[in-house]
Amino acid sequence: MGKSATTVRFAAVGDLHATKASAGALRGFFAQASEAADVLLLCGDLTDYGTAEEAHVLADELAAVSVPVVAVLGNHDYESGTPELVCEALTRSGVRMLDGEACEIEGVGIAGAKGFAGGFGRGSLGAWGEPAIKQFVKEALQEAMKLESALAKLRTPRRIALLHYSPIAGTVQGEPPEIFPFLGSSRLEEPLLRYPVDAVFHGHAHRGTLEAATINGVPVFNVAKPLLLRTRPDQPPFRLFELPRETMPAGEG
Ligand SMILES: [Fe+2]
Ligand SMILES: [Fe+2]
Repeated sequence: MGKSATTVRFAAVGDLHATKASAGALRGFFAQASEAADVLLLCGDLTDYGTAEEAHVLADELAAVSVPVVAVLGNHDYESGTPELVCEALTRSGVRMLDGEACEIEGVGIAGAKGFAGGFGRGSLGAWGEPAIKQFVKEALQEAMKLESALAKLRTPRRIALLHYSPIAGTVQGEPPEIFPFLGSSRLEEPLLRYPVDAVFHGHAHRGTLEAATINGVPVFNVAKPLLLRTRPDQPPFRLFELPRETMPAGEG
């Protein structure tokens, strides 16, 4: 499918959880996604255990992608203690990895960060008491600040935020309520209120809800691949999203 003159199409998916066994298994999926969209967005848990070997398998599979790929890491990509190796392997294969940074593709600004846990609304963990609790909350605040500084850099009229953890409770509904605090944090919603975007994509909540919205009405899409597979078995497991293509006057951009 050729590029549309009027819209930019995004294919978003998270939680690929690539393993050694994924060699040859993701190629068709990626080819299908890059056929359907102008940009591929990957929302973390790119690998299952965060090993360099898994990252290389994924990087090889991504060779089938002919469109720009933008990604954030997820908690699984940290499991082996070497997230930088996952980043390196994917960066070398052309993936734009975002960790508090922003990029611009086809005139659309994309701000990305992994995010962190901590809970939602009144259930948010506060920085009070033991140092370990304060450290946990500090991590969530730092991830929110990364998202905020990435969003602040964007100058494009159209914007997308890419996360692994959820910024709202709405898209984790369906998971056991006991684990909500481990699925995301309202602290990630705060930058999205100050710097509105057209859409937010995240993963991590494999049994959550496909779509909800921030309190200022921005659509939030949970694109965890297991959720897409289970709830839309008749469709390929990525979420398509379109934005109008900005026509910039000559000399600008
Ligand atoms: Fe996951
Ligand atoms: Fe995750």
